[in-house]
Amino acid sequence: MTSKRSNRIEPSITMAVSNLAQDMKRNGENVIGFGAGEPDFDTPDHIKAAGIKAIQDGKTKYTAATGLVELKQAIADKLRRDQGLEYALDAITVNCGAKHSVYNVMAAIVDPGDEVIIPAPYWVSYPEQVKLVDGESVILNTGPESHFKITAEQLEAAITPKSKLLIMNSPSNPTGMVYSREELQAIADVVVKHGIYVLSDEIYEDLLYDGAEHVSIAELGDAIRELTVIVNGVSKAYSMTGWRIGYTASNVSIAKAIARMQSHTTSNPTSISQWAAIEALSGDQEPVQEMLRAFATRRTLILELLNEIDGIECLAPQGAFYAFPTISGWYGKTAPTGPITDSVSFCEHLLKGAKVAAVPGIGFGQDDCMRLSYASSEATIREGIGRIKAWVDTLV
Ligand SMILES: Cc1ncc(COP(=O)(O)O)c(C=O)c1O
Repeated sequence: MTSKRSNRIEPSITMAVSNLAQDMKRNGENVIGFGAGEPDFDTPDHIKAAGIKAIQDGKTKYTAATGLVELKQAIADKLRRDQGLEYALDAITVNCGAKHSVYNVMAAIVDPGDEVIIPAPYWVSYPEQVKLVDGESVILNTGPESHFKITAEQLEAAITPKSKLLIMNSPSNPTGMVYSREELQAIADVVVKHGIYVLSDEIYEDLLYDGAEHVSIAELGDAIRELTVIVNGVSKAYSMTGWRIGYTASNVSIAKAIARMQSHTTSNPTSISQWAAIEALSGDQEPVQEMLRAFATRRTLILELLNEIDGIECLAPQGAFYAFPTISGWYGKTAPTGPITDSVSFCEHLLKGAKVAAVPGIGFGQDDCMRLSYASSEATIREGIGRIKAWVDTLV
């Protein structure tokens, strides 16, 4: 009998649609995929070269459990350069991808029964990881009217004596929304007043459009900084999803708690990837700008095409590489392949009828929407959104 804890973790409800997409592709069907959660660019050459050099130089052994001093220094330099924040090296931990960082933070902070406040739409792994540490998720729902962002008042109303941790993710996966400095300041004031912690997931910080500014909540004063754990990594900005390097920056006692646990679970992240991550963070940043320019063009294109479709409403994402249109106007209609009642049936019939794969919003806690990743070529975007437009005309 497997453990109660493992049985509490649900296979993602959105998997049904992505499994179906994979089956269709295997059968040779021409499926357009908008599901990808990763950039479609290759890791830049100078970063790859650093990984290759690490292998050739024999840097293939254990490192310190929470990462090389050289990498922690590169992270500290990055946090000073981009956020104006000073972190000592023992306040930084390097982990096996930002997903692992998020898990470590939860395990370091949350006791059984503690409440973790999660704004929805949320990244799918947050609530499942809360279950892994026996915490209780408290979901704060938002919709397009508030640009999918929580307010300080909403947070204040959700706080109970059991509240322990708030999760913030700006720019957001799945909505692409970015919190302004003022919005974050109001949230920080509530956090400090109640003395809860904040996990600030900043993995999309470099992917910003239309002059949007990334602010880390940790920048907003000493008190909030003490309560914040920044999570970041190299996966998205440097197209390094397979290298598995994420990191945390926090007060030293949380970093030490993470270090204790990591030393008995994964130990160090791959040594080779760590050397490549040093190059990513401290080397030439031009490839990030190049990728950003491509994403910006695709973003304009997908928004233009989506907004030409009657009945689709899509806010302009200010960051990341996702569009999160509202599709609930079609619930209650029927597609040639069956009735549409929610985001899962919408995406299922879209896939069957138009051969376009999107992720149902319910997986992110927002059943009125679907997520489309624009980490694909302009030709793919044109073809895919064109298919959606033709398919919605068949709904009755
Ligand atoms: C919001 C968010 N946080 C963290 C991660 C995890 O990143 P990594 O691939 O470094 O584990 C992702 C990846 O999809 C993400 O979207």
